[in-house]
Amino acid sequence: MKKLAVFASGTGSNFEAIADACADGRLDAAVVLMVCDKPGAPVIAKAEARGIPTFVFSPKEYPSKEAFETEIVGLLDAAEVDLVCLAGYMRIVGDVLLHAYEGRIINIHPSLLPAFKGAHAVEQAVAYGVKVYGISIHWVNSDLDGGRIIAQRAFEYDGDDPAEVHRIGQKIEHSLYIETISKLLK
Ligand code: GAR
Repeated sequence: MKKLAVFASGTGSNFEAIADACADGRLDAAVVLMVCDKPGAPVIAKAEARGIPTFVFSPKEYPSKEAFETEIVGLLDAAEVDLVCLAGYMRIVGDVLLHAYEGRIINIHPSLLPAFKGAHAVEQAVAYGVKVYGISIHWVNSDLDGGRIIAQRAFEYDGDDPAEVHRIGQKIEHSLYIETISKLLK
């Protein structure tokens, strides 16, 4: 059975979707580690409730990104992780993690990349008057939201409410992430 690590910074609905798909057999994998850079984030309780080991850290307590990523790589290696799934991990992956895991790290992003990279994709798209929105899953490299695209799914929305776009998009995210992980693990 393949081993996954999920990285998240906030709510963790994608983490939940992945962990539940592992638990009920839709994914032939186990989440062996949840990494979170925001102490107190709701995703932490979700991991604990499922008995999934967590590594929660505060970046400002480390001298550098290299320092906390070195610790993370040690944990990923020790847990023999096959695939790292970024799921709302709002931090740019640095050289240490990329050097160790490039080609085994994927990210989900709430836009049809390469449009609307960065942390406020949905808000920017709504402000632009976009009519076709979407979700992208891509390999992670050193370019922000710039790695090769693995999967995308589009949906139409003709309104001006970012919260509504988030709601529609997140439902798509959960199923697309599971389908994509499943394909990659095969
Ligand atoms: C997701 O919608 C994901 O696409 C987005 O953060 C959200 C996390 O939600 N990621 C990015 O914007 C990355 N640039 P979740 O914590 O409920 O899974």
